[in-house]
Formats: sequence, structure tokens, C-alpha cells
Amino acid sequence: MSVIAVVGAQWGDEGKGRVVDFLAADAQLVVRYGGGNNAGHTVVNPHGHFKLHLIPSGIFYPGTRNLLGNGVVINPPALLRELDGLADAGFDCANLFVSDRAHLVMPWHVLLDQLEERERGAARLGTTSRGIGPAYVDKVARRGFRVIDLGEPDVFRAAVGTALARVRRMVRDYYRAGGADDDLRDLVAEATDEGAIAEGYLAAGERMAPHVVDGQAMVDDALERGDRILLEGQLGTMRDLDWGVYPFVTSSSPIPGGASLGAGLPAVRIDRVLGVAKAYTTAVGAGPLPTELDDAEGLELRERGAEYGTSTGRPRRCGWYDAVAVRFSARLAGYSGIALTKLDVLDGFDRIRICTAYRDPETGRRWETIPASASVYARLEPEYEELPGWGADCSAARTWDDLPTAARAYVERLESLAGVPISHVSVGPEREQMILRSVAAPAGAPGEAAAR
Ligand code: IMP
Repeated sequence: MSVIAVVGAQWGDEGKGRVVDFLAADAQLVVRYGGGNNAGHTVVNPHGHFKLHLIPSGIFYPGTRNLLGNGVVINPPALLRELDGLADAGFDCANLFVSDRAHLVMPWHVLLDQLEERERGAARLGTTSRGIGPAYVDKVARRGFRVIDLGEPDVFRAAVGTALARVRRMVRDYYRAGGADDDLRDLVAEATDEGAIAEGYLAAGERMAPHVVDGQAMVDDALERGDRILLEGQLGTMRDLDWGVYPFVTSSSPIPGGASLGAGLPAVRIDRVLGVAKAYTTAVGAGPLPTELDDAEGLELRERGAEYGTSTGRPRRCGWYDAVAVRFSARLAGYSGIALTKLDVLDGFDRIRICTAYRDPETGRRWETIPASASVYARLEPEYEELPGWGADCSAARTWDDLPTAARAYVERLESLAGVPISHVSVGPEREQMILRSVAAPAGAPGEAAAR
């Protein structure tokens, strides 16, 4: 038995969904532990090409239970849309479960996300506009709505009324929104329509009811039975609320500490942490990104890697692999292994760069970690080392030895810079395009390397 947390090592979109889809073949339970439908997990398998936002990536195995943990924020209409889409593709999702303690994203959270971004103007964070931040704000402010509340219609209706009285005051008096010439006017009307919201959410609650469980009890039973459990992260360390590049972060904790909290299991029961890192860097949303390329190579990475946001369709910012960020993430999250994804995207490059440190042009200081200040981080310049490209298609490789020598050298260099074995290398989106390596964990690493 084992509990494996699958955690993003960069700015999100590392390929956690495809890694979980791969590992879930042997898992009895997959738990999403944070975030909401801001996530976009792409899964390509023999059943088709799927974009999951909320539903855990183990859903395609009927024998694997999938739980949306208490740490997730759930937008019920979005969840139902996803369920309907999967039903059309032939998946009844009877293996989907939802924690009764998970919080709800309410329509006004989506509105407030957009109003807050508008208020920030040029300093906007570039959120996904899915209401994730405001839903977590209400959770922390202890006025949030939870899945369990949908089971008490009268109490729920009254609470929606109370919440909306406050939201209307904020919208009108603070944001001064919703007027005749406001382009968010329709959204304001929709997000403050008390009757439609209460009845719509209660109806959604009835459809969700067969899936709702006591999540902690479900996880605890699985631990008792000795099941293999995967904890599926959302986003990556560099967008972690505490450890990411604040304020350009999400409102939850993608790191393994968030997994313990948001799945409902003791931290000491997590046996292994598999970091997922892309062979280069991408990000959507604002904030410093030292290795970002605003040139033809950046465009090439975007096109070759199809780097467009799964949730929002926004073009992703692309750049070379940032070994400082991944090492920082590895130290913080305690990876026992790393799954390196999208190595094939680098196939066409003559030379490949790796950022091994940053230099501050103002002070001359050399940085080997991430500064706490986003404005300091924004001015740091990457120091690169350069490796030769491999000038060959590596997408057909199925074993480590099939990879070109220069590709293996690149992976080995990343491994030594991270201080963590790279146990999985993916060379394409299909399940069989995952190369497993049996690599020994370095002394002191928290668990053995290979995750299966
Ligand atoms: P929020 O989570 O929508 O509040 O957005 C906060 C930051 O995280 C923004 O920079 C978003 O672009 C980024 N973000 C949120 N979800 C994802 C994701 O699934 N992939 C990549 N970036 C994301």
C-alpha cells in the first residue's frame, strides 16, 4: 500500500493529469485536494482526449474511486457540466465522490473575482475568473457555503439571502458596478439573482447528492484497507499561497501540506511525493517569470507544446527550464521522485538552455533561491548553462535506452540540479509514452524513487 501525492513543481500545467491518469491504473482512490475549476487537467487515453477541471484524473478507471476532497472549492453547475460531458463519452461517474465539507463557489464569487481584477487595473493577477479566490476568502472569513448545506434547503435559501444582501452592498457601494454602461452588468444581475441562485444550486445539490460522502471516512477506510491512494494536486509550488511568488498566487496550497489538509489524512501517512515538472517552463497569469522568452524560441515552445490554457484558452507564457524554481519546489515539497513531462517538445532545438541561478542587475547579488519579494524577483536575470539538442524525434522512445544520448544527458542534468531522481519521463500525451526509470533515491530522500 502507499499514498502518493502528485504535486506540480513549477507554475502549474506541468502535466499532473496525465501522470495521475497513468498511475491511477494501480490505485483504488484518487483525491483532488485543492483548487477548483480553475484547474485544467488534460488526459489523453484510449477513450479519447479529455479536459478535466474539477473531476479527478482517475475517473476513467471504473474500479478507482475519485474524491473531491474538503480542500476543493466546487462550482456545482460546472461540476454537473463536466459530469454531463463525461456521460456523453460513456462514463457514468458512479465512481465520483464529493466531500460534504468541500466549499462551494457561488455565482457572486465569479463576479467578485472579475470586479477585483478590474479594480487592480494594471496590477491585475491574471486569475482564471472562476471565483476561486473569493470562495476561499469566504471560507477563511467563516461565511462560506459547503456541500453539506445543500441538504438543508430552507437554511440554504435564507443564507443565500443574507450573503447577497452583503454582496449587493459591496457591488454597489465599493465596486460601483452594475450600472447601465457597465460591461459586467449582466453578470451582476445574474450573480445577485437570489431566487435563481438558491433554486439552481438546490437542484444541482439534488443531482450531486448520490455522490456526496464523508470524505475523511472514505480516505480513512482506504488507509485501513491498505489501498493505494493518489493525492492529485492542482497548480504548482510557484503559485502556492504561502510559497509561490506572492501575490501572483492562487488561494490554496498545492504543496503536500495542502494535500494532508485538503484530502483529510494525517501528513505522516503520505509515503511518497512525486513532483511533476515540464521539460521547460510555462505559466498563465501575471507575475515574474525569469526564463520567459519573448522571441521566436518562445513562440516555438508555445506552438510545439500546444501551450494554451486548458481552462481559459489563454496563450501560456513559455521559457527555458528554471532549475532554481524546481529545486526550491523539491526542497519544500520533499519529492521522492520527479516525473518530467513533454521532453519531446524540445526535439527541434539545436541547443537547450537551463537556468541554474539568477543575477540581480541592481546589486550584483547571485540568487540560488526564490526571493520573497515579487518586485526583486521581477528584475532578476537568469544565468544559463547550455546543452546540445538531440536533433531527433524522441516521441517514439519507450525505454530510457531508446532516448537519444543528448536527451538522456539533459534529463540527467536536470536530475542533478533538482537533487531528486527523475523516475518518469513523458515523451507525448499517450499512456504508453511514459518512460519509467528505475533510479535510486539519493541518501536522505523521503522515499524510494520509482512511484510504481
Ligand atoms: P486563480 O487560481 O484563478 O485565482 O488564479 C491565480 C493564478 O493562478 C493566476 O496566475 C492563474 O493564471 C493561475 N492559475 C490558476 N489555475 C491554473 C491552472 O490550472 N493552470 C495554470 N495556472 C493557473
